[in-house]
Amino acid sequence: PSSDARAGDSGEPTVIAHRGASAYAPENTLASIDKAAQLGFTWVENDVQRTKDGELVVIHDDSLNRTTNVEQVFPGRAPWKVKDFTAAEIARLDAGSWYSPAYTGTRVPTLTQYMRRIEHNHEKLLLEVKNPELYPGMEQQILKLLGNEGWLDQDHLGRLIVQSFSADSIRTVHELKPAVTTALLGSPKVAQLHQYARFTDLVNPSTGSLSLGYVAAVHAFKGAHGKRLGVFAWTVNDAAAARRVASYGVDGIITNKPDVVREALGSD
Ligand code: G3P
Ligand code: CA
Repeated sequence: PSSDARAGDSGEPTVIAHRGASAYAPENTLASIDKAAQLGFTWVENDVQRTKDGELVVIHDDSLNRTTNVEQVFPGRAPWKVKDFTAAEIARLDAGSWYSPAYTGTRVPTLTQYMRRIEHNHEKLLLEVKNPELYPGMEQQILKLLGNEGWLDQDHLGRLIVQSFSADSIRTVHELKPAVTTALLGSPKVAQLHQYARFTDLVNPSTGSLSLGYVAAVHAFKGAHGKRLGVFAWTVNDAAAARRVASYGVDGIITNKPDVVREALGSD
């Protein structure tokens, strides 16, 4: 099995809305995935962390203060780490007003809430296992939740990719559920790719370190499911960068502005 983001090996790169359509709505919220859907995009990326009482939540940073009003609500609780707050405490926070008053009242979603909205919107998910060193066992827990929500069923596997900067995390996901498509974030040395290709289907580098030669080198390997090892580049927010990485032959482009990338690629 392989994610259907890889179906277009010969066509345009898949466009993935980074943290949702995060240039236009607060990142990693239900509003940002609704926005991506409204703009006509099916693939969204998110970041998963874990609360003090073991709830998986969708938020990028390992602390709450950049993207919520936690400093006002819990002033004595610096440094406001996600792992030091319960799910009930986090549910009280506003995750929208930092972005715009128009989004006041937006919440940090639990992963369960998030998966249900993705399902409702008929979207597809690039799920990032964030800071796994802080949350022992989170890979098993994420897979259990995905299974309970039906996302490990045959008809959903094509709509899911699990990625991490941690190779250990990705290897764990692959070993626990070999059918899941996986991606390793970063730019590993070409000499190391044969090791990673045993348990990953994609290598997802930042654009800064990307070149035509690197994409070709990755593509020369077969990934965990026997297909060409793929490349999704991040984070590409302007037309020139989108055209540049597309010219390298990347399979996907992760962007805060999916509409700008689509326009640049001339695929609409
Ligand atoms: O999807 C790639 C990208 O999200 C990795 O970086 O910091 O935005 O999670 P970051
Ligand atoms: Ca991410």
